Amino acid sequence: MQNFEGRVAVVTGAANGIGLASATRFAEEGMRVVLSDIHAQELDGAVQGLRERGYEVTGVVADVSKVDQVENLAARALEAFGAVHILHNNAGVLRAGTMEELTLEDWQWVLGVNLWSVIYGIKAFLPLIRQAGEGHMVNTASTAGLQATGGIGPYNVSKFGVVGLTETLRLELDEGDPTIGASVLCPGSVRTRICESDRNREAAGVAPGVPSATEEVFRSFAGPVIEAGIDPTEVAAMIVSAIRNNDFWILTHPQWKEVIHDRVAGLQRNQLVSGFGG
Ligand SMILES: NC(=O)c1ccc[n+]([C@@H]2O[C@H](COP(=O)([O-])OP(=O)(O)OC[C@H]3O[C@@H](n4cnc5c(N)ncnc54)[C@H](O)[C@@H]3O)[C@@H](O)[C@H]2O)c1
Repeated sequence: MQNFEGRVAVVTGAANGIGLASATRFAEEGMRVVLSDIHAQELDGAVQGLRERGYEVTGVVADVSKVDQVENLAARALEAFGAVHILHNNAGVLRAGTMEELTLEDWQWVLGVNLWSVIYGIKAFLPLIRQAGEGHMVNTASTAGLQATGGIGPYNVSKFGVVGLTETLRLELDEGDPTIGASVLCPGSVRTRICESDRNREAAGVAPGVPSATEEVFRSFAGPVIEAGIDPTEVAAMIVSAIRNNDFWILTHPQWKEVIHDRVAGLQRNQLVSGFGG
């Protein structure tokens, strides 16, 4: 997809961080944008901010881990702007803890927000993108979807899932309908509030997380790494460029190519290698 002017983009998890940067960049490219998030007040702030800059945007509150809310988002986007060309499945949460510490509810929450949401998004939006005649789907995974790190099991599983899902989607689209592109975004560290994901549990109807030793260690290690990460606007620029070039992989940190190389080398030597993904 080359021409963004007047086209329509939908972005989930758009009230903050990477989603807000991506929605903003789509608007700057001349697109009409539907911003979606679970937090109504934060979403209103993001939408108002973009409207004040003269952009044609609207907000739809949705918990992406609920299929009916993703379907409603698709219906509302169509109602607002008459078509959808780009969907950025971006909302995500992170919960740290070992397999022994984490509850089943932790697993269901993280897999619901990070992985099932993308499945729901593909089901609800692909027919709309096809109807629009051309478009692109960007799914946010992580470097944690390319290389596992201990202590964030549900996150690793969800992000490996998003990578596999998007690979499959792209292969099927290339075969059947090359006018629709698909890319998987695998960010390294980006300066956002991802390490404060527990703030999103209550709105999704999830009980507060049980504090664990691993979570404390993870926060003290990952917090500063995320804080020192790149700005979300840099990620947004990479997304737009990948859509224009129809690139499949969006790796925000070139040094991760080395980590992936070590993973493959480890695989060939029958060794397990650990990584760190945000
Ligand atoms: N920041 C990083 O270093 C990094 C690295 C790799 C991948 N990612 C991924 O990037 C994506 C965006 O995260 P971010 O870093 O901007 O974090 P963030 O916490 O700043 O933003 C996440 C957004 O998702 C929203 N959200 C949470 N639960 C939701 C739900 N159930 N339904 C709808 N919206 C919900 C939040 O309100 C928030 O606006 C996530 O998928 C995350 O896993 C981030």
